[in-house]
This record gives sequence, C-alpha cells and structure tokens, in this order.
Amino acid sequence: MTDHAVLAPSASATGADTVVSVEGLRKAYRISRQPRDVLAGVSLEVGRGEFVAIMGPSGCGKSTLLHCLGGLEPPDEGRVVIAGRDLYALDDERLAVFRRDHIGLVFQFFNLIPSLTAAENVALPLRLRGRGHGAGRWGSPNRRRVIRDRVHALMDQLDLHGLQGHGPEEISGGEQQRVALARALAVAPSVLLADEPTGNLDWATAHEVMALLARLCRSEDQTTVVVTHDARTAAWADRVLVMRDGAVVDEVRLGRRDTPDPAPLVARLVELGL
Ligand SMILES: Nc1ncnc2c1ncn2[C@@H]1O[C@H](COP(=O)(O)OP(=O)(O)OP(=O)(O)O)[C@@H](O)[C@H]1O
Ligand SMILES: [Mg+2]
Repeated sequence: MTDHAVLAPSASATGADTVVSVEGLRKAYRISRQPRDVLAGVSLEVGRGEFVAIMGPSGCGKSTLLHCLGGLEPPDEGRVVIAGRDLYALDDERLAVFRRDHIGLVFQFFNLIPSLTAAENVALPLRLRGRGHGAGRWGSPNRRRVIRDRVHALMDQLDLHGLQGHGPEEISGGEQQRVALARALAVAPSVLLADEPTGNLDWATAHEVMALLARLCRSEDQTTVVVTHDARTAAWADRVLVMRDGAVVDEVRLGRRDTPDPAPLVARLVELGL
C-alpha cells in the first residue's frame, strides 16, 4: 500500500478537532415530477486545518453538497455540524449570523461588488460583523484601524499589494479570485468552502492562486474544502473525496508537499473509471 492508497476516514478528522461533520445527508430534486436523489446519504468529517478536495463527474452532486455545508441549501435528511453547531437546527436569523462569522465562500465567478474597491470588498464582511456594536456606521476609530490592518495584511499575503484602490473591473481574473479569497478569509472563518475556484482561470493563474491559498491556509491552520474538476487543483489538498451519483465512493490521501503531484490522483480516478 503506497502513501497514496485509499484510506479509511482520517483519524485526525474525528473528535474535538473536527470542524465539519456531515451525517447521512440526503437531498432529492423533483425534475419533471420524478424525484431524483442528488445526495444519497453523504457522511464525512474534516479536521481542523485540513485541506480537503471534492471531485467527481459533472452532476454528481458536488455543488449541492458544498451548498449544504455552507448553510445555503437545507438537506431533506441528515445533519451538517460546523464548529459544533448544527446548521439546520438554527432559525434563519441565527443561521445568517453563523454563516457570516464562520463560513467563507468562494465561487467560480468571483462575485465581487463592482462599485467597491478591492480593499473595500475584502473589508465588507468585517464591517458587517461590527455593525450595530460600535459608534458610527463602521464602528469606532479603533475598530476601523483593526479592520484596515487586517485587510492590508491579508492582501499582502495574497500578493495583492498595491491593488487596494482598484475596482474589480480594473484587475485580472486571477487577482479578482485572490480578492474573493481574501474576502472569504477576512473573518478567519471556521471553514473556507470554494466551488471550482480555478474554473474560470487559465492553468498558470490557477496554479498561482492555489499555491497562495494553500500556503495561507497552512500557515493559518485554515480548514478548507474545495470542489474541483481539475486534478491539478485537487492535488493541493491533503485528502481528496471522490463522489459519484450523490455519494462519496472513495478517498485518496495525498499528504502535504511543496509541489503537488496530481499523478497518483489521476491514476486512482482512472482506476475508478472517472
Ligand atoms: N435547484 C435545482 N433544481 C433541480 N435540480 C437541480 C438543482 N440543483 C442541482 N440540480 C441537479 O442536481 C444534480 C447535481 O447538481 P450539482 O450542481 O450538485 O452537480 P455538480 O457535481 O456540482 O456538477 P458540476 O460539476 O457540473 O458543477 C444535477 O443533475 C443537477 O441538474
Ligand atoms: Mg458544480
């Protein structure tokens, strides 16, 4: 058995250090009145600081699973527990606050607010979090300084120095995605969830974005789940969950390395016929 062999769920991803815990998730969409299982009983755990990728053929339920993890899509059955909180047991208002403070979301199409600068986009979740607590619209002067310092530090870590004042339409796709990542990471969420974050980027830019993300997540012990079609993107993860027909059918543990190697993952996907 090699380092890259399929392993049972990681022992480190259980117990007190579990950040994401999913049990028996089921969801069906009624398409032309025929109910169809999109999630057919998914269970998984992600430990603190783990970087997990989810792969699988188009339509197998990856985005639906990620939306369930992010509090955006209630399942028909099963539980999603993030940082000890059972998401769908919360009322709408508490779920919205929990999502804002604990869940960072990134999508394929960066979804930046065009009327705000890059720095203002990154600051937005921090400003929303402070709303209602401090003096004035954006809180006390001290709070504003803390937010500004956090935004600058994050933008430096994601190689965005000098772009603070630029609008989203003035910067490249790779830069926009790094701004979106900085925004998602601003509140130091319990978990960062990204759906095809490199799907709209050329290969070299995708590599650059993933390298920065992996480095930052590892230095900050940031729990991260990335959905991707691309084995080169998934190869940055510690562990890859493979989905088919709404179920997790395999797990490939890659371990951490400075230069990710997609070859063992591709070999396993070929063995699985994917
Ligand atoms: N709101 C919806 N209503 C009805 N069917 C839906 C809805 N959302 C998703 N589906 C269906 O559920 C299945 C899984 O969709 P999902 O978007 O989760 O797949 P995916 O694995 O993310 O695919 P891709 O790799 O193409 O993004 C698909 O067959 C899709 O058509
Ligand atoms: Mg999808």
